[in-house]
Amino acid sequence: TAAEAMEASRFPFKPIAAQTDATVHVPEGYKWDVLVRWGDPLFSDAPEFDHETGGDADSADRVFGENTDGMETFVHDGHELIAVNLEYTNREVNLPQTEEGVPGSLDDVRKLQKLQGVTVMEVEKGEGGWGVVVDSLYNRRITHLTPMKIAGPAAGHDLLKTEADPSGTESLGTFNNCGSGKTPWGTYLTCEENFNGYFGASAKGDVPEKVQAGYERYGIGPEGWGYDYHKWDDRFDTAKNPHEPHRAGWVVEIDPSDPESTPVKHTGLGRFKHENAEVVLAPDGRVVVYMGDDERGEFMYRFVSAAAYAPGGSTEGLLDEGTLSVAKFNDDGTGEWLPLTPETTGMESLAEVLIFARMAASEVGATTMDRPEWIAANPHAVEAYCCLTNNKNRGVKPNAGGDETPVNGPNPRETNNYGQIVRWRPHEDDHAADGFDWDLYVMAGNPDVYQNVYGGSENVTNGNMFNSPDGMAFDSAGIVWIQTDGDDSNEGEFAGMGNNQMLAGDPVTGEIARFLTGPKGSEVTGLTWSADRTAMFVGIQHPDAPFPDGEGKLPRSAIVVVWREDGDLVG
Ligand code: FEO
Ligand code: CA
Ligand code: CA
Ligand code: CA
Repeated sequence: TAAEAMEASRFPFKPIAAQTDATVHVPEGYKWDVLVRWGDPLFSDAPEFDHETGGDADSADRVFGENTDGMETFVHDGHELIAVNLEYTNREVNLPQTEEGVPGSLDDVRKLQKLQGVTVMEVEKGEGGWGVVVDSLYNRRITHLTPMKIAGPAAGHDLLKTEADPSGTESLGTFNNCGSGKTPWGTYLTCEENFNGYFGASAKGDVPEKVQAGYERYGIGPEGWGYDYHKWDDRFDTAKNPHEPHRAGWVVEIDPSDPESTPVKHTGLGRFKHENAEVVLAPDGRVVVYMGDDERGEFMYRFVSAAAYAPGGSTEGLLDEGTLSVAKFNDDGTGEWLPLTPETTGMESLAEVLIFARMAASEVGATTMDRPEWIAANPHAVEAYCCLTNNKNRGVKPNAGGDETPVNGPNPRETNNYGQIVRWRPHEDDHAADGFDWDLYVMAGNPDVYQNVYGGSENVTNGNMFNSPDGMAFDSAGIVWIQTDGDDSNEGEFAGMGNNQMLAGDPVTGEIARFLTGPKGSEVTGLTWSADRTAMFVGIQHPDAPFPDGEGKLPRSAIVVVWREDGDLVG
C-alpha cells in the first residue's frame, strides 16, 4: 500500500510505474496541470496561439517561447517570478507553413530567433490554480536579439570584436539556453550550450589558424544545424563575421527583478557548451560555480571567485575575477581541480584561456567525461553530483583537437547508452579546496536485460530503471531530483524504462524512486518550486503530439505544475 511504501522510505510518495503514453503521470495523491506552453501570451497585446501558423514573427517575443529548460524561482517585493530558459526550436513544428521547417525568409529566421532565449514571468496561484500573470511589469522576453554586456577578463579582447561592436564588450542575444543557476544575491544564470549550431558560412572564410582551431574544437562549421540564420542575417555568417561565435558559449547573468537591466555575459566562467551553473559558497564566502560541458569527451569545470561574497555588499567581479579549473579524476577515488591560467596552459593570455577553455583544459590533462550535464550540490552535505548522460562513441574523438576518450574511473563502461551520476566530496568540507574524493551515486542500466555492469548499480531495479540522467536539482529537504533525456523506445535494452521521467534520489541510502513520467517523445528538464514549496514546476521539452492540446494540434513544450491534493509540501 502507499502507506507501507512511504514508511520504508524518505520519499513522501508511492513510486509510479513506467509509462509509454502521451501524457504526464504523477503518484497517487498528487495532481498536475499545464502552467504555460509555447505560444501562450505573456502580454495581452499578443494573439492567442494559432495552431495553423504557430504564431507570427512580430509577436514571437511577446509569448512564452519554445523548448522550456532550466528555471529558477525568485521573490521580489512579494511577487513570485520564474526565470526560464527556451533552449532551441523544433523547426517543423514552429514553422508549420514551411518545407520541413527550413526558414524561407528573414521573417522565419526572426521568428525562430525570438522564440528562444529566456522568459521572465510572474506567476501566482489564483482560484483556478497556478498561472502566469499576463502583463506583469516583471514579464520579459530575452531573445537572440537582446543587447548584452560582455564582462570579465576576456571582455574587449580582439577575438571578441566585430564590425558592429569594435569594443568587444556589447553583443546581441543569448543562445541555446540550457541549464540554469541562481546566485546568492538573487540573480538568474542562463547557460549557453549548443551555440555552434546557429552559425554557418556563405563562403570559405580566411581566418587565422587559432580561430580555425577554435571552430573545429567547438563544432562551428559552414552548414550549421539547419537554423539557416547565416543565409538571412549576416551576423551569423562566419565568412563575414568570424568573431561572432566567440561571443556565445558563456554563462549569462540576468536580474529578474529589473526588466530594463542588461544581461551580462561572464567571461570569467569560460566558454564551452555550458549545461548549468551550480553556485555554492565556500566556508570563507568565496563563490564557487560548478559547470559541465555537455559533449562526449569534454570536461567538468569549477570557478572560484577571488573575493568573498558579503550579503548586501557589492557583487561586482564575483563571477569574473577568480580561478577557472577543470576536473581530473584519479582511478583511486580521489580527484583534483587543475587551474587554467596562461602559466599552466602555455596560452598567450587569460582571455584566450577563457575563450578557448576546451583547448586550455586539454593542455593540463583534464579527465574526459561521458557528456557532463547538470551539476547539483547537496544543501545538507558538502558534496555535489554531476549527470554523465551517456556516450555512444567511446574511443572516438569528440571534435577535432579533442582528447582520446578511454574508459576511466567515473566513466567506467565502454559503450555507455545508460549514463551514470558521479558524486564528489571536497576535501576539508570546502567546495574551494583543491582536492576531492569521488564515487558513483548510480550507474543506470537494465537489470532485466543484463546481468553484468550494464544491469546498473545496486540501487537500480526493474521498478525504477531509467536511462540518460540529465536535469538534476536538490530540494530543500535534501532529496535529489533526477530528470532524464534518453531513449524512450521502451524496446530492446531500453525495455521497461518507458518515457522520459523524473525520479527522486536519497543521497544517504542511495534509494531511487520514480515520481513523474513525461509524454512520449518528450524530455523532462527544468525544475523549480513555488516559494512556499506547495507547488513543483517541471519542464516538458519537445513532446510529440497530441501533448498537450489534443489530436490534430501542434505539440507544445510546456511547464507543468505538480501539487499534493492535501496541500502539503512537495520537496
Ligand atoms: Fe541542453 Fe546538455 O542539455
Ligand atoms: Ca540537458
Ligand atoms: Ca541531454
Ligand atoms: Ca534538451
